[in-house]
Amino acid sequence: MIEQREHWGSKAGFILAAAGSAIGLGNIWKFPYIAGENGGAAFIFIYLICIALIGLPVLIAEILLGRSTQRNPVGAFKKLSGKPFWVTVGSMGVLAGFIILSFYTVIAGWSIGYIIEALRGSFSQFSDPSIASTYFDERVSDVNWIVGYHTLFSILTMGVVYAGVNKGIEKGSKIMMPVLFFLLVILVIRGVTLPGAEKGLTFLWSPDWSKISGQSVLVALGHAFFTISLGMGAMMTYGSYLSKKDHIPSAAIQIVFLDTLIALLAGIAIFTAVFAMGQDPASGPGLIFVTLPVVFAKMPGGVVWAISFFLLLTLAALTSAISLLEVVVAYFVDERKWKRHKAVMVFGLITFIIGVPSALSFNIMSDVHFFGKTWFDNADYLASNILLPGGGLFISIFVGWVWGFDKVLIELKEGSESLFVKYPLVIKGWKIFLKYLSPVMILIVFLHSVGLLESAMLQFRTNWVNISLTLTAIYLLLKGSK
Ligand code: TRP
Repeated sequence: MIEQREHWGSKAGFILAAAGSAIGLGNIWKFPYIAGENGGAAFIFIYLICIALIGLPVLIAEILLGRSTQRNPVGAFKKLSGKPFWVTVGSMGVLAGFIILSFYTVIAGWSIGYIIEALRGSFSQFSDPSIASTYFDERVSDVNWIVGYHTLFSILTMGVVYAGVNKGIEKGSKIMMPVLFFLLVILVIRGVTLPGAEKGLTFLWSPDWSKISGQSVLVALGHAFFTISLGMGAMMTYGSYLSKKDHIPSAAIQIVFLDTLIALLAGIAIFTAVFAMGQDPASGPGLIFVTLPVVFAKMPGGVVWAISFFLLLTLAALTSAISLLEVVVAYFVDERKWKRHKAVMVFGLITFIIGVPSALSFNIMSDVHFFGKTWFDNADYLASNILLPGGGLFISIFVGWVWGFDKVLIELKEGSESLFVKYPLVIKGWKIFLKYLSPVMILIVFLHSVGLLESAMLQFRTNWVNISLTLTAIYLLLKGSK
């Protein structure tokens, strides 16, 4: 017998689950350090514009695709178009889910590992960053440590998804998200009340426009996509468990608001503490696993703050990881008629296995390179630089141009009629952003991230024939796929 497709128990359940997907390592680990490296406030300003003008319209489009088809990404494109090209776009999303999950669980595993390290009192010896950095290197070079925590985090993720949409994802998010928020607020209060915290706030809020370049705009837009979980059908899949009575634009605004709020709060908690304890704010990806433990070691009651922080990071990562696994599971349940439990066990295990070489990329496989990169870097590059921007591009083209905009509006109107009556201009704006601004901006980010933008610019004069041929080919391809 085919299992009945589940639906969210409440709108709040959906919003918390979707915000849980959005809020993850991207907000707490990545956002603070890229903001730190790109000029603080100036970067944050550009990031907010990207979120509002491009992230939000594409998020609405993704949720809408899911809700109106009640399917996973592959099923959604099959139902609405059936053309092999678009079904492939959906499959790329499922593939991206696999790949991102396989390395996401490795980094999330470090977070669990650091809760244990904090409990064991390991941070007390961190009198300066070089000791913390050596300690971190030793942890990740320990195969048992890194694979062990990767295993533990994978099991937690599988456990939640195994329990189902209502009893697992929704219930889990309803518990984990408030705890996460509570821990973060406590850490923010701790941060801003430290003597010297104002230097951190000044760093975050006083814009250094000189650090803004074309490059930082691209970083901001790329991150806007990653942080709202766009481009691979995660939001589509969560949207497929919605019913027609829900107001999609209002849900999308709340999801984006929560995601942005948490990223900003994480920035405040981290930079006030980093400045108060006299550490380097621009220490890059090591900010959380190297600089912060030093900060905690210097702080009174540091162990408690350290445990709270890494618990917060673990919860944020877990609510994101379950959304990645759910995309893969939904595909096998909808399209291949598998039982949820079987799909979770089989594909949870497969993603775990694909993740092992990612974990080993930090130790015994660090010299094993494919295409000049470690396994981990390849997985990250393939997903973040190719599959996600590619997926985002085609999703906005599909909803903006291929689906038929009159049908799109009829679908969107379900549950949000008041918006159409009261603010018709908002709907017009959405249409313009989705049809023109998003695809063009995403294409620029995409070409940049695969390194084509720079070389195309360089060769533009001599190679304009090639470029116009390529653009014509893309146009014909899209036309043929309608
Ligand atoms: N948004 C999450 C973060 O900020 C990561 C994530 C979860 C994600 N699901 C996704 C990214 C789907 C892209 C696509 O950490």
